[in-house]
Amino acid sequence: MAKPKLTFCCQTCGTLYPKWTGQCTGCCEWNTIVEEASVEALPPSRYQGFAGIGTTLTRMADVTLEKEFRLSSGLQELDRVLGGGIIMGSAILIGGDPGIGKSTILLQAIAHLSQTCKVLYVTGEESPQQITLRARRLGLPENHLWLLADTHVENIIKHVQKEKPRVLVIDSIQTMLTSLLSSAPGSVGQVRESAMQLVNYAKQTNTALFLVGHVTKEGHLAGPRVLEHMVDTVLYFEGEQDSRHRIIRAVKNRFGAVNEIGIFAMTEKGLREINQPSAIFLSRYEQPVAGSIITASKEGSRPLLVEVQALVDQSHAGNPRRLSVGLDTQRLSMLLAILNRHSGISTHSLDVFLNVVGGLQIFETAADLPILFAILSSLRNRPLPADLIVFGELGLAGEIRPVPGGQERLKEASKHGFKIAMVPQGNLPPKSMDGMKIFPVQALKEAVACIEHLALLPTA
Ligand code: TYD
Ligand code: MG
Repeated sequence: MAKPKLTFCCQTCGTLYPKWTGQCTGCCEWNTIVEEASVEALPPSRYQGFAGIGTTLTRMADVTLEKEFRLSSGLQELDRVLGGGIIMGSAILIGGDPGIGKSTILLQAIAHLSQTCKVLYVTGEESPQQITLRARRLGLPENHLWLLADTHVENIIKHVQKEKPRVLVIDSIQTMLTSLLSSAPGSVGQVRESAMQLVNYAKQTNTALFLVGHVTKEGHLAGPRVLEHMVDTVLYFEGEQDSRHRIIRAVKNRFGAVNEIGIFAMTEKGLREINQPSAIFLSRYEQPVAGSIITASKEGSRPLLVEVQALVDQSHAGNPRRLSVGLDTQRLSMLLAILNRHSGISTHSLDVFLNVVGGLQIFETAADLPILFAILSSLRNRPLPADLIVFGELGLAGEIRPVPGGQERLKEASKHGFKIAMVPQGNLPPKSMDGMKIFPVQALKEAVACIEHLALLPTA
């Protein structure tokens, strides 16, 4: 085979180079030059694109649709993040820290799928023996589970063209390499080319494809950003290694809602799904403690009760620290500024630490008000009532804005025995709720006065 022609291309401005250099002379950016195969070297299937080549124009009204066909992975929580099951011909990328359970969940899913259709698990990291050992330990059905230990994309495609599995797992995309490029596996160019060929294969043959992706220290998928554009669905594992709970979140989904989460527990029998997760993110104390508050969060389509903890302490450094686990640190700084400006409560000489119990990450703004109350409670060293639930978004003018799904949040809280709620005025239910006293608030000042009264917090 003739050696494929290679070029190096700046990913920012597109300038071409015959060899790699550190800085692009076209746009002066550093580390943007990546090896690429030139078009002549590519197999035809590669430049036909994902959607295939159309020689005529199509009127939308004439497009015929096949019935959307979804396979169940056997794990309801995984199906729900995927939008109701695995769509044939879709490419799904699963990212997460090492050891969080990516290989385990895919092995469990594919073992279930192997009962009804042909599946292939391609491993570039573990040997077939290791995978078999794990499958046996988990008691998974193994009769129809096919394994392939290979990292050459061209080889893999040759095999799958012959065997025609309906579901293909690649563990992991960073170990794959294509002979089109000479760079090492895991490099940006290799990951992109390998993924491109595999995704193309999946689209053209209507195969469901799972790609396992490594993440960097910062928690982003390693390799090119374009990887996330190439696939239909991007799932991320969240959760702390030392906590039992594992959360899978859809950050992109062409076939379902984003930010939908699936919740699992890692057990000695693999990942077990948790179908009633609403109270698992609460730590239970005998007595209420200062700095802790429960909020009703709505990640995806279902409400979850989540405990947010704050610790405020005298700062001994010139720059007080603002740290948060599971919440946005930038937003925390903004909230502290709002607290100072609109309630006159200053934290400029204090360190502020925030934590969401159970390793969950909260991205929604409904946590704004509870965060400030947790901080206030820690600052004054007074616990908040144990049966209090709070949610609401804060604006820069100190106003409290309604959040989506207010009624569902309140219902979930009521179901778990919460009796006092503080909510944005716009989220006040039309009818009063049995057993729950609801305080609607419109501005931060009013909310702080209300909580000072409710929790008997001493005024500053
Ligand atoms: P794994 O799926 O190999 O992680 P990844 O592919 O994301 O790197 O998960 C391995 C971790 O999960 C390992 O730390 C052990 C733990 N584990 C269990 O606790 N129970 C089990 O049944 C299995 C299979 C793994
Ligand atoms: Mg793995």
